[in-house]
Amino acid sequence: MSQSAPISNILEISAFDPVAKQDPHARLKPLREQCPMFRDEMMKTWLVSRYADVRGVVNDRGMWRDGMNAEDGSFARRVLDNAPERLALPASERQSILTMDDPDHARIRTPLAKALYARVAKARPKIDRIVADVLDTVQGKARFDLIGEVAIPIPIVTIARILGVDDTRLEEFRDWSEGLILGLNPVRTPDETAYMERSSQAMDAYFTELMKARRARAEDDLVSDMVTLQAEGAQLSDTELRINLQALLVGGNLTTTDLIGNGVRLFLLNPAQKAKLVADPALVPQAVEEILRYEGPVDVTGRVASSDREIGGCPVKQRESLMMSLRGANRDPEAFERPDEFDITRKGTPHVSFGGGAHICIGAPLARMEATAFFSVFFQRFPTLKLTDEPPHWRALPFFRGLERLMVES
Ligand code: HEM
Repeated sequence: MSQSAPISNILEISAFDPVAKQDPHARLKPLREQCPMFRDEMMKTWLVSRYADVRGVVNDRGMWRDGMNAEDGSFARRVLDNAPERLALPASERQSILTMDDPDHARIRTPLAKALYARVAKARPKIDRIVADVLDTVQGKARFDLIGEVAIPIPIVTIARILGVDDTRLEEFRDWSEGLILGLNPVRTPDETAYMERSSQAMDAYFTELMKARRARAEDDLVSDMVTLQAEGAQLSDTELRINLQALLVGGNLTTTDLIGNGVRLFLLNPAQKAKLVADPALVPQAVEEILRYEGPVDVTGRVASSDREIGGCPVKQRESLMMSLRGANRDPEAFERPDEFDITRKGTPHVSFGGGAHICIGAPLARMEATAFFSVFFQRFPTLKLTDEPPHWRALPFFRGLERLMVES
């Protein structure tokens, strides 16, 4: 099948590729039509791009997630940190739930999800306040950068408040969070790597301190919830807790920034959709789902076949690695009518932007709440906002889609 494929390797659908960076669908549409199960022999990875196949694989709880299970030479294996001292650690102390399999995955995710969902369920007033405060900082400016000044601070401050970061440490926490995000970039400069490592060490030390303080005296925050669950018998070591609290930051900050940034740009490019949103605020939750479908922040997710099977008509062997194009699936005409139209009144098939099954994004309720809080007020507060004539600067981060900068003016 790869012989007639419109791409020659998996990186050609990522922001490393100049064509895909500008318009990923210029690559994904022909791929889905001509070779929906593409095999990259160099990277030993299947790239799956039809909605039905992607949905089937991500929802399949029998699949593996840990790249250690994948065949040698596969992309999932190559991106692992293979330093011998790391590999000597138990799986749950060298990676987060994102790439962990059961029983560790369920053991750690279950208490974390329980505590996080309960926190999120009562976070809306706090998030409304954070959105209002951040928007106050740009109100009245003739021109500002929507990404740097608005879309980056909102998720960082939100998760800091949920975790229980003290006000006096918020600035440092913001700085470390930005450093940690560099971990997503495999082509970091040496300076960026040093910044990332400094941030990770500082964050580790800070979480250790915070856990100790909350053990001594619980507060109304997620770190208190987690140490309380530990004390009540949840099987979770301090290292596992620290790794997974950091995973909430790495997994949640840039992605939510991009959901806000991509959404604002889509509305400014589609004034009729913006008019509908402003006229009917009840459309906001649906609009958030449509931003996620039409221009979601994450390109792909991965699984490893745990047994020989057939996927999308192709024989896939045990230990073969699968990369699911969430972005390709979200524009599949077999699943969505007029897939290339941004339509906030759309109903029907759910998108796959948060993945599915056992690994479905743990932060989805929080991301949805932040975006809902944001789009409920943003265009009311900035009714005359427009894009400047600066061309969009898409970030060169492989497998994520978001803007480095989005200059807007009143
Ligand atoms: C719009 C924003 C977001 C998008 C598009 C997104 C997307 C994703 C995707 C595609 C996955 C993999 C799912 C799979 O393989 O089936 C994932 C997992 C994950 N996300 Fe998110 N995410 C977002 C926000 C967040 C937030 C706010 C947090 C933290 C509060 C977060 C934390 C995580 C974690 C920890 C995982 C691993 C879950 C597991 O494997 O059990 N994400 N996310």
